[in-house]
Amino acid sequence: MRLVNVNYIDVEKYEYYVAKSIYSNGIVLLQENVKLNLNYIKQLDSKNIQYIYISDEISEGIEPNDTISIEKYREVKEVIKDQFNMAKKGKNIGLNMNIINNTISELLDTITSKRDISYSINEIRMSDDYLYEHSLNVMVSCLYTGILMQYDKMKLQKLALGAILHDIGKVFVDSDILNKPGKLTSEERVEIEKHPELGYRYVSDNYGNEISALSKQIILQHHEKWNGKGYPNQLSGDLIYEMARICSVADVFDALTADRVYRKKIPIYKASEYIYSLGYNDFDFDIVKLFLSRIVKFKQGSIVKLSDGAKGIVYDQNKHMLDRPIIKLLVNKNGKNMAHKNIFIDLIEEKTLFIEKQLENIFSN
Ligand SMILES: [Fe+2]
Repeated sequence: MRLVNVNYIDVEKYEYYVAKSIYSNGIVLLQENVKLNLNYIKQLDSKNIQYIYISDEISEGIEPNDTISIEKYREVKEVIKDQFNMAKKGKNIGLNMNIINNTISELLDTITSKRDISYSINEIRMSDDYLYEHSLNVMVSCLYTGILMQYDKMKLQKLALGAILHDIGKVFVDSDILNKPGKLTSEERVEIEKHPELGYRYVSDNYGNEISALSKQIILQHHEKWNGKGYPNQLSGDLIYEMARICSVADVFDALTADRVYRKKIPIYKASEYIYSLGYNDFDFDIVKLFLSRIVKFKQGSIVKLSDGAKGIVYDQNKHMLDRPIIKLLVNKNGKNMAHKNIFIDLIEEKTLFIEKQLENIFSN
């Protein structure tokens, strides 16, 4: 199976089957194993569902190794959505810290129980749920980084709580400004840049005893930059709490890999390069290196073009070199279809080849 953008598949020419049931608002929209047709594609489109798991001939034998199952991801996202909506309604209702802490503990157990510590970011997103999905993704990637930094369980819990709530202040910012497609005016920018302080104030006023000082600092400082050019307090270097420094890397990385109203998402391998290039100015570079070291750059099932012009599908990861996976050849460098030949290229062995780019489908260049 593989993850595809439904806009790039041709259901009239090829056969595609739904590999994992697709949900919309908690209801099954398409069951596993259903064959896709134009009608279904239209339905997905009307629900704003762009990415789905399908099984087809070329992806046979591929099992994407999700960090968190789609079901769990959806469940946690709904918890975050509920909690953020409660916060928006006012302090008499507000957040339920028990629910949030239990959700974090469960996820932490899932992640630490896996021996494989490569992190495959979730790319299935609903445009209306950006804030909740973003909060969840940022929390999970913070946890991975925290684990690499040998944080103990208590520290990881604090890191995750701050990360899950890092953008809670956005529920108090006008959504028209947050979702504005065009360029922001300077007044609008000022409004958006209030969110770290709004969030910090909200949790301090209402959950002063239940949320640790460290978690609160993540909310306040996640837009500070290593070079002192961030906000709200233009802190620099070590003056920014370490946990906030982790969160700021995870925050930018996740934002880059999501479609937004004002720009298209960029693929994970490019986002990784971009984060690296920002490393010295915006972030703590040691954290950047650690963060990127375990991110899966090319997910299993991605279609890629190699440096010699051949095309293939990412078949498996090389756990110690996540930018050089094992590729199953689909089209050779002379343009000949090789999909049935079962030829595998291990990029650790084939040292002169590299992945030039990720493609939307086998026909793109
Ligand atoms: Fe933020």
